[in-house]
Amino acid sequence: MGEKPSHEIGRARHVAIIMDGNGRWAKRRGLPRSIGHQRGVEAVRELVRSLANTGLDCLTLYAFSSENWKRSDDEVGDLMNLMRKFIKSDLPEFIANDVRLKIIGDWQALAPDIVEMLEDALDKTSNGSRVLAVALNYGSQQEIARAAAKAAAIGEVNERSIAAHLDTADLPPLDLLIRTSGEIRLSNFLLWQSAYAEMLFIDTLWPDFTPQMLSHALDDFAQRERRFGGR
Ligand code: IPE
Ligand code: IPE
Ligand code: MG
Repeated sequence: MGEKPSHEIGRARHVAIIMDGNGRWAKRRGLPRSIGHQRGVEAVRELVRSLANTGLDCLTLYAFSSENWKRSDDEVGDLMNLMRKFIKSDLPEFIANDVRLKIIGDWQALAPDIVEMLEDALDKTSNGSRVLAVALNYGSQQEIARAAAKAAAIGEVNERSIAAHLDTADLPPLDLLIRTSGEIRLSNFLLWQSAYAEMLFIDTLWPDFTPQMLSHALDDFAQRERRFGGR
């Protein structure tokens, strides 16, 4: 029987993070929200640098939700510019660190220059072995609706066919979902994929999140008993 499911090994293969709290991090320091987002990008960079040491096959990061368009034009503009800067500055590192970029969500609807940069980054990292999946313009309900429509189009609507059409279809099952900043909600992130994921909600604001914290989360995960409804 093929590869053992990760719950039998105790090692997480796929962790997803809702990177929340950039605004509050800045507010506490009397700084503009944009600085919080900048520091948030630095936390992402450190985490990606540590990816090889985590033993993970996939790290999925919630960077921009389909609901985040509701923010001010200034803030959305700042976030899009940060994205442009980050792809440009960090693509060489991704390639050097064997990272394979993947984007989930309705990313093709982003500004054409960003779509082009992302396509280039996807192409240039396609041989990487550890997946960094970034959720951009992502909403889980929309993703499920899209997948269900595709499943219906082939006349086969069931759990398996819907899962096969999700943006995450080619990723390992989600083992652990982490949210920073103390909020205890999913905010339209990986609703389907979280069915049996372990959850960890921590008070740390995203810019203060470190690779050591991820490592502790993975140790914590290894101690959990996952039962998947069985005994
Ligand atoms: C997370 O930080 C980043 C994005 C949602 C893009 P927030 O901007 O949500 O920070 P808070 O929640 O206001 O502190
Ligand atoms: C979720 O955080 C989205 C991202 C982290 C990208 P939000 O800050 O947008 O979520 P709510 O509004 O607090 O639920
Ligand atoms: Mg928030």
